[in-house]
Amino acid sequence: MNPIKHVAIIMDGNGRWGLKQKKSRNYGHKAGLKTVEKIIKISIKQKIPYLTLFAFSTENWKRPQTEIKFLLNLLENFLKNKLDELIKQNIKLKIIGNKKKFPVKIKRIINHSENKTKGNKSLQINLALNYGSKSEIVDSIKTLIKKKQIINEKKISLNLYTTNLPDPDILIRTGNTKRLSNFLLWQLAYSEIFFEKKLWPDFNEIDYLKILNKFKNIKRNFGNI
Ligand code: FPP
Repeated sequence: MNPIKHVAIIMDGNGRWGLKQKKSRNYGHKAGLKTVEKIIKISIKQKIPYLTLFAFSTENWKRPQTEIKFLLNLLENFLKNKLDELIKQNIKLKIIGNKKKFPVKIKRIINHSENKTKGNKSLQINLALNYGSKSEIVDSIKTLIKKKQIINEKKISLNLYTTNLPDPDILIRTGNTKRLSNFLLWQLAYSEIFFEKKLWPDFNEIDYLKILNKFKNIKRNFGNI
């Protein structure tokens, strides 16, 4: 049985779900947050040490201002209202992505949440915010050049946002779309990929457990036979 150390998720389909309910795309994002909470709970129960969630990409700034504002508000309220619970559950929160572009208010709450949870040990949640994989790789190489270090796979990995974390064993993408959307391109080199038809707000505990169980029984070769 394969151990599961790291699960990464592209939580796609919120907007479509909201519209399908004859409500707004933002209504879908709100429902998507409920799914996030369910998946966190199971990840802890399953003793998965790392969970990486794609919450906002570098390309998402192209969306209408009202949607961006709603997503940032959702994030702010989540961090404000759930920080105590994250601490109680021994969860460490880490942001991966470029924080610079966020409003000061959001940066402050993100930094505060990271600081308050940095010693926690049950589950590390990497929240990908303003994240883009290609620029992450370029930045890593630029850092090595600046420090006059040799460039090899190990060094590039160490200078990514995910420095020192195991690469994801599993990538899940919901929303019936089969692409990686500039997410963890380096780190996903040997991950098992599960594309789910369901939209993210419909994705539930049973769907998640099915994937985890399927993964446990896959023969992983890493290029060997
Ligand atoms: C993609 O769905 C989803 C996002 C861009 C945002 C994900 C955000 C959440 C799940 C809720 C917030 C989470 C936290 C932790 C605060 P989409 O809207 O692009 O879906 P579509 O393909 O139907 O348009």
